[in-house]
Amino acid sequence: MSTQEPLQISILVLHGPNLNLLGLREPETYGSLTLDAINLRLEKEAYELQVEIFCLQSNHEGVLIDAIHQAREKHQGIVINPGAYTHTSVAIRDALAGVEIPTVEVHLSNIYRRESFRHHSYIAPVAIGQVSGFGANSYSLGLRAIVEYLRCN
Ligand code: DQA
Repeated sequence: MSTQEPLQISILVLHGPNLNLLGLREPETYGSLTLDAINLRLEKEAYELQVEIFCLQSNHEGVLIDAIHQAREKHQGIVINPGAYTHTSVAIRDALAGVEIPTVEVHLSNIYRRESFRHHSYIAPVAIGQVSGFGANSYSLGLRAIVEYLRCN
């Protein structure tokens, strides 16, 4: 009989550009919670789900891409809010496709109810799914979705 503990699931939570300004930034669109408050909430939810999370925010495309590459050795799933890079970044999409780590895309706002340039996501075709429009809860739903996906697949 094996005495090895099952490996704990580890999820990388990536926040893209301008999300460090949450709380100050257009609160009517993005809500009043700061990024630290969102991360704290996710830490609690991760504890309840019995998974590990690691949260990172960057305003730089290359930093996000490096984090996605490095996730191969460390994390089984990714939850990403790519911010405006959602609508522009072939490079982030290629990084996610390249590492083949199951990914859920999240947005605080409902991008389909906003300006037409936000209606297209380069990330969606390489993600398992997308959660958009539930404010900070989008992250919680995204975390739950990726954990259930990983446990069932
Ligand atoms: C966002 C939506 C994007 O269109 C925007 O550029 C953001 C935030 C969201 O969480 O609603 O920075 O990803």
